Amino acid sequence: MKIVTVLGARPQFIKAAAVSRLFLRAPVVREILVHTGQHYDQNLSEIFFRELGLPKPDYNLGIGSGNHGAQTGRMLEAIEQVLITEMPDMLLVYGDTNSTLAGALAAAKLHIPVAHIEAGLRSFNRRMPEELNRVLTDHVSSLLFAPTQSAITNLVREGVSAEKIHRVGDVMYDAALYYGAKAEQTSTILDKLGLTPGNYVLATIHRAENTDDAVRLRRIFDALNSLAQTCRVVVPLHPRTREALRNANYDFSANPGLSIIDPVGYLDMVMLEKHARLIATDSGGVQKEAFFYKVPCATLREETEWVELVESGWNTLAPPDDSVPLRERLEKIMQKTIVDLGHDDFYGSGAAAEQIVSIMRKTTAD
Ligand code: UD1
Ligand code: UDP
Repeated sequence: MKIVTVLGARPQFIKAAAVSRLFLRAPVVREILVHTGQHYDQNLSEIFFRELGLPKPDYNLGIGSGNHGAQTGRMLEAIEQVLITEMPDMLLVYGDTNSTLAGALAAAKLHIPVAHIEAGLRSFNRRMPEELNRVLTDHVSSLLFAPTQSAITNLVREGVSAEKIHRVGDVMYDAALYYGAKAEQTSTILDKLGLTPGNYVLATIHRAENTDDAVRLRRIFDALNSLAQTCRVVVPLHPRTREALRNANYDFSANPGLSIIDPVGYLDMVMLEKHARLIATDSGGVQKEAFFYKVPCATLREETEWVELVESGWNTLAPPDDSVPLRERLEKIMQKTIVDLGHDDFYGSGAAAEQIVSIMRKTTAD
């Protein structure tokens, strides 16, 4: 079985690490890794290949940054060439980035079956580029690996036929179990930053709706800046957000409680997450990791795709709108006691990758 996997952005390297590890162990599977080059900074790309033992990509398309149409279009053209050369039995994509859509579309037009990991997630907000990428990818896929019950419900409601959908759990949970212990053994990030476990807030911000709106961006950083007067706040900053803050002339250098650092590798990130008192984020993956590590989470958005976390009380939406000051919201969530909340297995048992590989093998053998 020959599989071409297309990836390009940070969270995809982490998800792919959980699955590719199993492909390597299956002698009948040959996985060809295609890195679109959507993320190219060392600490957004190469560090994950090194830390997580992901094989070096067979193709690096070097597409880089750009407007959505141009970036996706360049990817589509380059991926098509790879697929014509390789003619795999199946193409595999993860999540909802422009790399996901470009891979899926290139394959579908060549009649190569598409497998989509993290299918069925919806925010029902079509202004999000990710929402368009997810919907379109799901509708050209023939194997849809849905991590949650709500993802299945969404797909069925959109008319996707039930035999294409497989509920397998979430490969990010597989990764969290596999690398969580390793992080404890190897990461020195808490010492390096002088952090006391349970005594700091970890924040990540990179979503377009927050970075591209100067008012929302300022609200978020004003709240973090203010919170950092009383509690350490650590922000591994995405380059998109760094640029947006630079354009807004935002100055946070005077506050020693606020540590704005470069993006970190996965093992350091897991360590920061595990020992935080609160996680404030607009990331999809980080919301789930907060749950895996039982840390209260504030999601800096109006809605989330991971609805079960909000319904169960593990996650609280804290949009940076003008209704309640964000700092107040965050402090309230930080005080929240989570010991009484059940810890349901919304995301499976940590064997999602195994199920995915087995279903893909069976499907291509048929
Ligand atoms: C992308 C995904 C988003 C995902 C995120 C993961 C899309 C539409 N968005 O968002 O769903 O959550 O990745 O992190 O696919 N940049 C660098 N160095 C890099 C990469 C980017 O400096 O290595 C800067 C560039 O200024 C670029 C900007 O970040 O224009 C945005 O990068 P891009 O890949 O377009 O989107 P992300 O915000 O990273
Ligand atoms: N992450 C990381 N270093 C960082 C920030 C995030 O390793 O500095 C990891 C995080 O633990 C999670 C994934 O990146 O596994 C989430 O990616 P991101 O927030 O970029 O994208 P999203 O999940 O929102 O698509």
